[in-house]
Amino acid sequence: METFTTRDRQRDLLAQRRGIPRLAPSSGSSRATATAGKVNVEQVLSEVRDLPALPTIVVKIMRMTGKNDSATPRSLAEVISHDPSFTARLMKMANSSYYGLPRSVSTISDAVMMLGNMTIRNMALVAATQDTMKHCVPGYELKPGEMWRHSVGCAFAVNLLAEQAHYQETEEAFVAGLLHDVGKLILGPYVAERLPAIQVHMEAEGCSFVEAEKAILGCDHAELGGHMALAWNLPALLAQAIRWHHSPAQNGYIAPMTALVYLGNIICVAAGASSQENELHKSIHPGCLHVLNLTEAHIVSTIEKLGEYVASLPNTFNE
Ligand SMILES: [Fe+2]
Ligand SMILES: [Fe+2]
Repeated sequence: METFTTRDRQRDLLAQRRGIPRLAPSSGSSRATATAGKVNVEQVLSEVRDLPALPTIVVKIMRMTGKNDSATPRSLAEVISHDPSFTARLMKMANSSYYGLPRSVSTISDAVMMLGNMTIRNMALVAATQDTMKHCVPGYELKPGEMWRHSVGCAFAVNLLAEQAHYQETEEAFVAGLLHDVGKLILGPYVAERLPAIQVHMEAEGCSFVEAEKAILGCDHAELGGHMALAWNLPALLAQAIRWHHSPAQNGYIAPMTALVYLGNIICVAAGASSQENELHKSIHPGCLHVLNLTEAHIVSTIEKLGEYVASLPNTFNE
């Protein structure tokens, strides 16, 4: 099978879809020091006093809509309606043109009835992560809102791919997509301190940002994110999908959920959900398409569909 994307092709797609400019290479952090050395996951986690908690409402909604639970639309609406500002945010999303409702809805119960539990669940997760992810992220050069748009874009890309691949664990895969880069929230300041060294390493080795991140820091955002997911008691497969979203093949095996997040991450950049060059790979791992029984045509059509959704997301955020 022909290898689908080269890095150049991904850039072409980016340019074609949204005209998103590439990030200029950073000149590095003024705090960078020549002595900033490796860190390891345990060290970083132990230095972080307040690991960002998943909002309570997210945990509650995930539990209510999990495989072993069957929340009724009414009970789901009731939980959501306890938080008025959260409800308002959801209503705005439900009435956006992306969901194409035949009439506008004015209550959360109506929205749940018309869109269904799973759509509301995903919308709730998206809304609930906005506050945590809306800030700029040092080190990775993410502007305000960019982390959130990228995360949400990836989650929806995963959803679209999962449907086409007839993948069953869609709920968990969506969350894995949404949280795939969560390690950046913690690792950002460490990366910022070592950015010149990371860039020198990339130049010298001709490697990706993530490979240089791992070489210079001793761990990368994906590895840290996987540990964070386990610390939040999220399922092991979900944590693994986060952990390996940049290197999906482990011992010759690619887990389908990992393949979904890996592809979702690349697709959402191509669809305009952030211009994170450091998330791109030189080529798409063909094994990820194979394990999901997807083709290049699926990827192209998913970029197209996702572009419409990404365009409906807010793009201005206050710090
Ligand atoms: Fe990543
Ligand atoms: Fe990403």
